[in-house]
Amino acid sequence: MAIESTLVLCKPDAVSRGLVGEIVARIERRGYVITAMRMLQLDGDRARKHYGEHEGKPFFNDLVNFITSGPLVALAVEGDGAVEACRQMIGATNPLQAAPGSVRADLAQSIGRNLVHASDSNESARRELPIFFTDADYMSRRHDLERWIKG
Ligand code: RTP
Ligand code: MG
Repeated sequence: MAIESTLVLCKPDAVSRGLVGEIVARIERRGYVITAMRMLQLDGDRARKHYGEHEGKPFFNDLVNFITSGPLVALAVEGDGAVEACRQMIGATNPLQAAPGSVRADLAQSIGRNLVHASDSNESARRELPIFFTDADYMSRRHDLERWIKG
């Protein structure tokens, strides 16, 4: 049992297409607990910080332009194995290669418009969450997390 926290973003295409509820519902139905949530529009500096690992890659400028193009919804998600579970729920980066039943396979249009982000490791989650949330943004949901602890 390892209760983890991870960052999920419903990207601007998800907000624009009205798919935030669908994405949030999948996370909640799986039993994961949302401990922080906000809608915001990233500026270039914050977008480059979030996607810093990709700086210099050919798709980096398009990625920053897209992620700053409109409002997104950021979520902090907690539960046993939350990092891997959220990666599973969103599916592979390219919707054509994503597992059926994942958000990207079911709903996304292209690799550059793939609806959702989820931290790819605990280390990434620890780096990314403070880009979107301060300590005051988190709600204690200890009782809801006990579902996991009771198995
Ligand atoms: P994300 O960070 O957004 O959750 O996506 P990911 O881990 O599945 O993929 P990552 O390798 O971190 O790439 C970040 C985003 O950059 C765009 N991308 N385009 N054209 C390309 O080859 C390419 N590769 C990546 C995608 O929009 C991806 O979500
Ligand atoms: Mg990534």
